[in-house]
Amino acid sequence: MTIEVPPTPHERIESLRASVRYHQHRYYVLDDPALGDAEFDALFRELQRLEAEHPELASPDSPTVRVGGLIAERFEKVQHPAPILSLANAFGPEDMHTWRERLRRLLPEDEQAKLAYVVEPKFDGLTIVLHFENGRFVLGATRGDGEVGENITPNLRTVRVLPLTIPVVAQNGVDKIRPPARMVVRGEAYVTVADFDAFNRSQEEEGERTYANPRNFAAGSLRLLDSSISARRPLRLWAYQILLLEGVDDPLLTHWESLAYLKTLGLPVADQVRRFSDDQFDELVAYLAQWHDLRARLPYELDGMVVKVDSLAHQERLGFTGKDPRWAVAYKTGGEEAATKLLDITVKVGRTGAVTPNAVLEPVAIGGVTVSAATLHNEDYIRDLDIRVGDTVLIKRAGDVIPKVLRPLPELRNGSEQPWQMPTVCPVCGQVLVRPEGEVATYCVNNACPEQLMRKVEYFVGKGALDIVGFGARQAELFVESGFIHDLADVFDLPWETIAEMEGYGEKRLENLQAGIEAAKTRPAARLLTGLGIRFVGSVVAEIVMAAYPDLPTLMAADVESLSAIEGVGPKIAASLVDFFALEPNRLLIDKFARLGVRMTGDEQLVAGDANLPFAELTFVITGTLPTMSRDEAKAYIEARGGKVTGSVSAKTDFLLAGEKAGSKLAKAQKLGVAIIDEDALTAEAGLPGK
Ligand code: IVH
Repeated sequence: MTIEVPPTPHERIESLRASVRYHQHRYYVLDDPALGDAEFDALFRELQRLEAEHPELASPDSPTVRVGGLIAERFEKVQHPAPILSLANAFGPEDMHTWRERLRRLLPEDEQAKLAYVVEPKFDGLTIVLHFENGRFVLGATRGDGEVGENITPNLRTVRVLPLTIPVVAQNGVDKIRPPARMVVRGEAYVTVADFDAFNRSQEEEGERTYANPRNFAAGSLRLLDSSISARRPLRLWAYQILLLEGVDDPLLTHWESLAYLKTLGLPVADQVRRFSDDQFDELVAYLAQWHDLRARLPYELDGMVVKVDSLAHQERLGFTGKDPRWAVAYKTGGEEAATKLLDITVKVGRTGAVTPNAVLEPVAIGGVTVSAATLHNEDYIRDLDIRVGDTVLIKRAGDVIPKVLRPLPELRNGSEQPWQMPTVCPVCGQVLVRPEGEVATYCVNNACPEQLMRKVEYFVGKGALDIVGFGARQAELFVESGFIHDLADVFDLPWETIAEMEGYGEKRLENLQAGIEAAKTRPAARLLTGLGIRFVGSVVAEIVMAAYPDLPTLMAADVESLSAIEGVGPKIAASLVDFFALEPNRLLIDKFARLGVRMTGDEQLVAGDANLPFAELTFVITGTLPTMSRDEAKAYIEARGGKVTGSVSAKTDFLLAGEKAGSKLAKAQKLGVAIIDEDALTAEAGLPGK
């Protein structure tokens, strides 16, 4: 007879931890989940419950402790076990052959034939250094200056793909590998393009700071002093080099083996690695030429490819020059990126008064275009990346967008570079600049600042707002400078006789411009409201708001309470509108528009709440990525048919419009029995299911 002995809490906790680790690894690292979400949640919750019941069994390595919480005052310094080297660049096949020739020259003849190479992606993230002791993750650091980095262990602990214990427990009967006594691994922290976009989108909706690119976002997330915030950032990492290894049975001989070993231990290692022997060097070069294709297929950003000499003995022998190992090289095509000197940083005043820094560059050709200016986003961007005037900087030009400064190349500094500071006064009008607390932008708060007025007019007459044909930035500048425009309403009160005498304003042109301005007077008032450039009131919000009031003067009299009662208008938007119309000059401005014959009413047919509209009295929630519509488009589509769109699923929700990658809202809708439809069902002519 066998007697079943129930496990002790300690045993049960340990076995749950092992399963959770295993399943998290399959989910996050291998992208091959073996359990459904609900089954996994059940395991996780049981572990959480047992740990709560038995605080004496708590462990910092438990998979339940990834939520962060430790708040550092500053980062401690960490000495790296070996210098964290950087990489020299190669910009094409020729450079690759030159590189190989040098390797061969430096190796004895009998070794040359044994040369082999590993090609791997160059991840566009940030170097991190991970320390493991007896199978436990004990310390993680940034690169710092290459010798000493910063201790960011609490933040790294929240990164789901980083195993806190190695090897990640195998449950498939494979013999357990003994963890190394000590191992230090170099890797790259990054976020995927999709996660970056989703984060920025939600930040934008909340009116919070957005990031310039995934790399910048990863950098910001890694160095947060409050690790509970890092825990909510979608950070990931790749491991790609073993810096130190002690206490293993068989020493590693090649880079290829090192990657395999890291993978066996459960660290995330990229799949896109290839090994070439020396006599396959031409093939290697041909493979590199395709890296743009590879980049297009990967969900994260690449910064080129890295080619490494495979044998660790060869690496040792080849050594390094300055900060670059001779045994490795970064391959870039140079098509979209270039390095050049940052000559100066100037600031530009935008329509909201936001003052943005711009780079003045030594002209450089990127993909056939000469670039001499680039954006630097804001003060924090320059400070976070430590960009200094006089630095050699990396510039990226993608498509038609304004080129941007990616980062400085500090290794090329000579000491004459100067840190930059935001000016204290507006360069145009001399008004003292203000940076509101909690914001990244600095503002010129002088409403009469001529530069600000030009940009306001440009926006007012532009596509998203009144869309006046023949009126662009040039006219905005000319008319403001000539003293014709002192406020936005003056756009409708131009001194045509004077303009007729100006150069470049012949009869035809004048007529077109006048016709464009007349047509703009008749557009629904939502356009005018958009054009005012009120904070948080873009075209979508303007339409929602105007649909709730018969005309602009009525809206002007609304209070925060009635405004926030409108579906889609939060307290922030409501307050911004009320603040705007509370100012006497703004109210006078609206009166002036009315006097000049500009339409004050909305688009009557699209008023939400009309009982005859097909979606009248139906409430929708939108989640996930829809096949053809953006969320704003779907929202506008629903509202134009009389439906309401809200942010969260409740018993009052009639339909959940779900696209790909729908998350918790989908689960909630299923639980509450809310009807789930896709975009096709929404737009089906036969009407909505069940309606
Ligand atoms: S190897 C001595 N491999 O690129 C070895 N670096 O430009 C030098 N990087 O700071 C680094 N992916 O942050 C290596 N597969 C990869 C990489 C990689 C990205 C980064 C790394 C380094 C920078 C050098």
